[in-house]
Amino acid sequence: MRALLQTVGLAVAWPGQPPVLSGLDLALGPGERVGLVGPNGSGKSTLLLSLAGVLPAAAGAVHLGGAPVRAGVFNPAVGLVFQHAEDQLFCPTLADDVAFGPRNLGLAGAALEARVAEALTVCGLSELGERPVHRLSGGEKRRACIAGVLAMRPRLMLLDEPSAALDLRSRRRLIRLLAGLDQTLMVASHDLDLILELCPRVILIDAGRIRADGPAREILGDAALMAAHGQEVPPALARSRVAGWPRERAIAGGAA
Ligand SMILES: Nc1ncnc2c1ncn2[C@@H]1O[C@H](COP(=O)(O)OP(=O)(O)O)[C@@H](O)[C@H]1O
Ligand SMILES: [Mg+2]
Repeated sequence: MRALLQTVGLAVAWPGQPPVLSGLDLALGPGERVGLVGPNGSGKSTLLLSLAGVLPAAAGAVHLGGAPVRAGVFNPAVGLVFQHAEDQLFCPTLADDVAFGPRNLGLAGAALEARVAEALTVCGLSELGERPVHRLSGGEKRRACIAGVLAMRPRLMLLDEPSAALDLRSRRRLIRLLAGLDQTLMVASHDLDLILELCPRVILIDAGRIRADGPAREILGDAALMAAHGQEVPPALARSRVAGWPRERAIAGGAA
């Protein structure tokens, strides 16, 4: 597999501070969906900002499609969906906001309109293009952020806590939207059930280092590993264990 995204010995620091992340080696193949989990302050958002080229590497490097990601250089191949929609949406109307990225890529006229319409449709927002962004609901704002990123047709999408503060219906709609995308995805979240649904692979980070990287069900279902990093096995996996319990009990009971 030729990696789409690769980091080698990546360290990331906030200005004037020691590195939050260090020695990170990771590779994502094209089309992979990876969940990024870890306790508060473990560096998930910092890692996404670094992969998107917002924060520079203090050591090591990030490569996308074989080319280095340079901090501060606009790179439409990577789309970052911020945790707080308010950090991302800033134009008067939704359609203006979604048009901002592709306009910067040089699109204009009918091509720009078509690109905006496509992104709004994929995100279920085609009726709301003229709506001021501050008049969108929480779920619509989250999808608006995704539409703004999709309009640049990125190869890699990074999403920071995408289901935070969404009600069940908005969360379900978001999951369906993300599940239908072709892009390579990295999703940082405490919503482990969302990660289980979307991501076959999970990376667990804690105290700035990768602690586990592998199949989602193995990592999220490993009670000792999860507890060691301040996490709990998500109910969906815990339930499947409980489901085995009556059988074990019946066998034990039969032997007695
Ligand atoms: N804007 C910032 N300036 C300085 N330090 C920050 C900033 N944002 C996060 N940090 C620090 O970086 C570390 C990792 O934080 P963060 O990446 O936000 O973790 P997570 O997303 O896993 O909760 C924490 O120690 C946090 O205090
Ligand atoms: Mg965070």
